Amino acid sequence: MVMTPNGGERLRDRRITLGVCGGIAAYKAAELVRLLVKQGARVQVVMTAAAEHFITKLTLQALSGRPVGSGLFDLDEESEIGHIRIADESELLVIAPATANAIARLCAGLADDLLTTVALATKAPLLLAPAMNVNMWRHPQTRENVAKLVARGALVVGPGEGDLACGWVGAGRMAEPPEIVEACVRALAPAARDLDGVAVLITAGPTHEPLDPVRYLGNRSSGKMGFAIARRAAARGARVTLVAGPVTLETPPGVERVDVESAREMRAAVLARADAARVVVMAAAVADFRPAVCSGTKIKKGEAAPEIALARNPDILAELGAQRRERGGGPILVGFAAETGDLERNAREKLREKGCDLLVANDVTQEGAGFAVDTNRVTLFAPDAASEAFPVLPKVAVAERILDRVAALLGVRR
Ligand code: C5P
Repeated sequence: MVMTPNGGERLRDRRITLGVCGGIAAYKAAELVRLLVKQGARVQVVMTAAAEHFITKLTLQALSGRPVGSGLFDLDEESEIGHIRIADESELLVIAPATANAIARLCAGLADDLLTTVALATKAPLLLAPAMNVNMWRHPQTRENVAKLVARGALVVGPGEGDLACGWVGAGRMAEPPEIVEACVRALAPAARDLDGVAVLITAGPTHEPLDPVRYLGNRSSGKMGFAIARRAAARGARVTLVAGPVTLETPPGVERVDVESAREMRAAVLARADAARVVVMAAAVADFRPAVCSGTKIKKGEAAPEIALARNPDILAELGAQRRERGGGPILVGFAAETGDLERNAREKLREKGCDLLVANDVTQEGAGFAVDTNRVTLFAPDAASEAFPVLPKVAVAERILDRVAALLGVRR
């Protein structure tokens, strides 16, 4: 446990609601309450009915020093601990352990017990510490549910890998209580405003290259990485313009969005705005080629399969890099590289060729990296610097790491 230099409590008087769900890791909630209280937090525990099979209310009540909430319709309890009061008073809602069932119910917006009702009613940020069997954690439905909650702003700590109580070995172990306390401290820290007022232009998503009025050539980019960068940059105070290819994602709060379809439209949108930007992040998966001819009418199913001639698309990032070299100045350029092997060599080459300041490279053959998933595993490359490799992280966390480097580059140039 890290204390502040003066030995102070890092969560003094912070109102934290701790939701405890019915998993074997519920026993760790006792230690978590103890550590939160030790850091000065005012902890309100809310248990699900299933949690009471694993740990007693009395234990958590004794450690938190206040009545534990559980029933939604328990009149005695309700008069004392109204769910709306808990929701309104919470500065942070931590759910530890968060079971697969609880995650699914939160995702669906159910409000059929005290914990889910508080979760729905509160405006406080949500921090999940998942704990479950490895197969449940890896199940596509759980992945989708966690991804949805993360996209809505939920924070996730853990789970770790190791021996699970169910006998399996793998991911699913709840993060240790000290790690959860650290996550609470981070979640409650005032957001860094290190990009205050900085104009940042971000591209995201695929491009669609028309073949005829109904068909196009495209790629599997979901836009999630670029949107995550836009969301976090705006949260850090940047004035963000997001040039988005065809994606189905919601515009992050405070972000100006320009929708485009093709690489040439993206180029026009980017070049028109690049001069006003101090940072350009090219996260889009721009199509390198387009059909040389776009038929004005739908291509008919003829006898012979048509041959499609391709033409090269402009390389927007390389053009910005060249422009900056010619002019002797311009925005900070961040590029992306999806590779399928020899990451270091290809990334260094791309960094040079495109003339960017930072290259975010990922090996898209690796699990948890690349398109359409909510996590990414990246290595950052910059000229004349050692590369920085990260483990698999949620895309929002990858976005933060990229923006940390951007902030550092801006600091150097200021
Ligand atoms: O050359 P490659 O496609 O691997 O480079 C990827 C990087 O270059 C990304 O940052 C992407 O947004 C950008 N790019 C571009 N214009 C293209 C192709 C890629 O700006 N036509």
